[in-house]
Formats: sequence, structure tokens, C-alpha cells
Amino acid sequence: MNNFIFQNATKVYFGKGCVKEYLSCLTEPYHTIMLAYGGGSIKANGIYDEVTSILWAAGKRIVEFSGIMANPTYAKVQKGAKLAREQHVDMILGVGGGSVMDCCKAISLAAKYEGDVWNDFWEKPGVIEVDPLPLGIIVTVAGTGSECNGGAVITNEEKKVKTGRDYPKLNPSFALMDPVYTYSVPVKQMVSGGFDILSHIMETYFSEPNEDNVSDDIMEALMKSVIRNLRAAIVNPKDYTARSNLLWDSTMAENRIIKMGKRCDFQCHNMEHQLGAYTDCNHGCGLAVLHPVYYRHIYKAGLPKFVRFAINVWEIDGNGKSDEELARAGVEALADFIKEIGLPTTLRELGVTDRTQLREIADSCGISAGSYRKMTHEEILEIFNECFE
Ligand code: NZQ
Ligand code: ZN
Repeated sequence: MNNFIFQNATKVYFGKGCVKEYLSCLTEPYHTIMLAYGGGSIKANGIYDEVTSILWAAGKRIVEFSGIMANPTYAKVQKGAKLAREQHVDMILGVGGGSVMDCCKAISLAAKYEGDVWNDFWEKPGVIEVDPLPLGIIVTVAGTGSECNGGAVITNEEKKVKTGRDYPKLNPSFALMDPVYTYSVPVKQMVSGGFDILSHIMETYFSEPNEDNVSDDIMEALMKSVIRNLRAAIVNPKDYTARSNLLWDSTMAENRIIKMGKRCDFQCHNMEHQLGAYTDCNHGCGLAVLHPVYYRHIYKAGLPKFVRFAINVWEIDGNGKSDEELARAGVEALADFIKEIGLPTTLRELGVTDRTQLREIADSCGISAGSYRKMTHEEILEIFNECFE
């Protein structure tokens, strides 16, 4: 194993009924709570009523901040920070998915920081010397795993940049994770979130080192769990076992454990984030379009690992196949799974209609240092073009 330092400051309360059981005591030290959420799903599925009734009963003053959009913008972060300052908010309670969680993390910092958080922390990595507002999270959809890290992916619409940084100080202090809260997630979003989990694991797995290491072993188990449980949750969205496994898979993929000792790739994430910055596409769907094409480009550079992926994750029989055939069969099994669960397979299906934009988007993508084969902007453009139809 390579050297590493591991810490995770988020305390997780997981399981059916956890919000009812723990929210009141977790918010006990605070008086004014900013209740932050997205476009209103929590009002339709009853989560809003459950959360507010607990906070009212505990005598809290609630400041609502709603309308956090998918792919949260820096403008929204600034609005939230202004509200938090004006209303003397003591803590932020984010209720939602990755977009709500990320926006809340950035608000927790922006509310306490005098300067411009985009310039000083997102555009270039900084050192956070202020204490952000305390942040608690109630997770409503499995996918990003944002509840257990300090990562916040924010879109600067003016600059056409979508980017994330992981600051340990932005780890939420607690995360409440009730799998029942995820029952109402529409199937399209559930599979998108499921693929995001798989992508986080693959982007970590397909990177050096390749010698025996516990992170790779954990990742194979996690990938199999995501595939199996996503299939089960499609058949029965109220399958508690499947929903709880998916919810914990998503945390396990992004709580830093599997990254220990790994270089990590995240080239597909870099490409998807810029597609998102230009087109506002859905994150998990964008990843589904890109991954098989990207892997067809790089698998020869990481052949032993792609062979291992085919055998250990997709259980492909290696008999009579060359390493190259086997590796390629693993990539094609991934592509077939994407089709099977109903995710888009082309940029056009993703809603990207203007092919002339692709050059500019490709040129704006970050280049990952950890990839088995370092991309160039020219090759990223080739990949986008292959993804188009
Ligand atoms: O906005 P509402 O009305 O709440 O509806 C949301 C939204 O439409 C809906 N939803 C969430 N929980 C629901 C529900 N609908 C019904 N019932 C529920 N229980 O789902 C839709 C998508 O929500 P969103 O939060 O946007 O999805 P996701 O969790 O996939 O987050 C995506 C964002 O996270 C970033 C992505 O780039 C994107 O901006 N990421 C954050 C990461 C991190 N911080 O670690 C890592 C990821 O790689 C990713 O980049
Ligand atoms: Zn992701």
C-alpha cells in the first residue's frame, strides 16, 4: 500500500426511523436552523413535514432556503450565504441529494468567509482557516456520497466551469440516512445515482497501484453490490434491503476509505462536469454515456486491471479468451448494463444537441494525472464525438 492519512469527521446515523430518533438531539445546541432543500420533492413525499415537526417541537427557529437546483450554482451559494448572515443562522440542515449537500457545504463556508469563496477555494485550492457554519445532512437519494466527505461541486455559470474541491473542514458533522426516504426517488434518478456510485468506484479502481491492496478488494465487492441491488430496486423500489445497500454503497464509494493508497482517475468526472457546466445535463446520466467509450480508449494501457474487472466483477469466463478479449468483454458488459438499466448511451439522448460546442467543452476539461493513459484535449474531443450519436 502507498502511504496515507485517513480521517472522516462525519458521524453517520443509518437506518429506518433514524431522523425521528436522532434529529432532535443532534440539533439541540442550535437555535436558528437554516432548512435547505431542493425543488420540492421533500414536500411531496412527507419528509418536509416530518423534519419541520421535529424542529418545531424542539422550539427551533427555522429559516427556509429552498430551490437548490440540480448542478447548484455559485449564485445560489451566494444567496444562501447572504440569508444565513442576515438571519444569524447557527446551523445549516441540508435535506436532499448531492446538489443540496454540495450547495450547503459551500454556503457554510461562504457565510463565515469575508472574501470570495469561488476565487479562493474553488478556482484554486486554498486553506480554510475560518470555521464554517455547522452542517447536518438528511440524505434523500443514493448517489454522490457527499454526506461523508468535504467535497462540493459547484457550477460557476458566468465562467462556464463546474468543479469540486474536497476540504475536510466541510465534512458535515452528522448525516442521517434513512433508506425509506429514498423510496420516492423516480427510477430515472435512482439509476442515475446508482451509476454515479459505480463510476466513483471505477474511477478509483482503474488507477495505480495494481499490486495486491485492500482498497481494490473492497471495491470489487462494492461494485457487485451496486449492480445486484440496483437490479433489485428496479424490480421493487420499496425493497428495503436493496435501498439500504445502495445508500451505504454510495457512502462507501466517497467516504475516502477506498481511495486510500490509490492515485484515482476521475477523468470521466472531469469530462462530465464540463458537459454539465455547458449543458446542465444530469450527472449520473452523463457519466453513463462517457464511461464505456472512455474505457475503450484506455483499457489496453491498464490491461491486467481490466482483465480482473471482467472476471471478478462481471464473472466472465476467461477460457479461450486472450487478455485483450477478456478486458474488452468486461467493458462491453458494463456498456450492456448501462442499456439494461435504461440509462442514456449517447450525448444526443442526454440532450446535447449542438455538436459544434464539443470542441470548446473538450478544451475546458481538466486532465487527470491518475489515469492509466493521460488524455489530451484532442482525444477528449474524439471521445465526445464518438459519444454523440
Ligand atoms: O430538487 P428536489 O425536488 O429535491 O428533487 C431531486 C432532484 O430533482 C430529486 N430527489 C432527491 N431525493 C428525492 C428526490 N425525488 C424524490 N424523492 C426523493 N427522496 O432527485 C433529483 C436529483 O437530485 P440531485 O441532488 O441533483 O442528485 P445527485 O444526488 O445525483 O447530485 C448531483 C450533484 O452532485 C454533484 C454532481 O456533480 C451534481 O452537481 N456531485 C457531488 C459529489 C460530492 N460532493 O462528493 C461527487 C459527485 O461525483 C458529483 O459530482
Ligand atoms: Zn459522481
